Amino acid sequence: MNQGKVENTDARLQEYAEGELIVTDPPYNIGYKYEGDFTDRIKDYGALFEPMRGQRVVMVHYMEQIIHDIVPVLGSPEKIVAWTSYSNTPRSWRSVCWWNCSPDMSRVRVPYRNPEDARIKELTKRTGGRALPDVWHIEQVKNVSAEKVQGYTNQIPREVIYNILKTTASPGDVIVDPFSGTGTTAKVAQELGMSFRVSDVNPTAQELTRQRLAQSVITLTA
Ligand SMILES: C[S@@+](CC[C@H](N)C(=O)[O-])C[C@H]1O[C@@H](n2cnc3c(N)ncnc32)[C@H](O)[C@@H]1O
Repeated sequence: MNQGKVENTDARLQEYAEGELIVTDPPYNIGYKYEGDFTDRIKDYGALFEPMRGQRVVMVHYMEQIIHDIVPVLGSPEKIVAWTSYSNTPRSWRSVCWWNCSPDMSRVRVPYRNPEDARIKELTKRTGGRALPDVWHIEQVKNVSAEKVQGYTNQIPREVIYNILKTTASPGDVIVDPFSGTGTTAKVAQELGMSFRVSDVNPTAQELTRQRLAQSVITLTA
């Protein structure tokens, strides 16, 4: 049975164990004002990622910040995918980066370009679709989105985390998100029957995550 933990730890103090796969979108360090008193303009930003050195990590972030702030700590990513979306402003993108692991894109199948073409229909029957490409177009979570958790901002779409977990997690992995916000990583891991350990420095996030997970059956510990 999969198991879940929801914790309230500062990412600087996190310890990671063998068999844990870190899947996260951290504060972006661009001056964003979160609920409570937290503004993400963090002086010792690199310290948030120090405990992740040498671990298997998949991180969603702006590419500029990855280059400036994360590469000096974790080194060069092994793989980079673009996640594009339309926001209120024009089309934008973020990067999904892998360290010490890489995705198997063939584990997620998406429709071919000309689904009505007879040959493509035949191919789809055989393969289930084409492998996930290197550009993922996934809309942002809006206030009116069905998946929206009210009372928190910056919720990542479940499909982004789904793609990461399906392509990257190995059987027996424990999925860890040290900046878990509303607990999207935990929620998708739960759906996929994977064990998880998620954490956020903001107690509101922890509470919302517990409520979100309680909507389906799971064993939660401390
Ligand atoms: C981009 S949000 C994560 C959103 C999340 N993926 C979701 O779907 O709701 C970043 C989170 O990092 C948390 N955070 C900021 N500094 C932290 C720290 N030092 N340790 C742990 N969490 C922190 C914030 O409270 C915020 O919830």
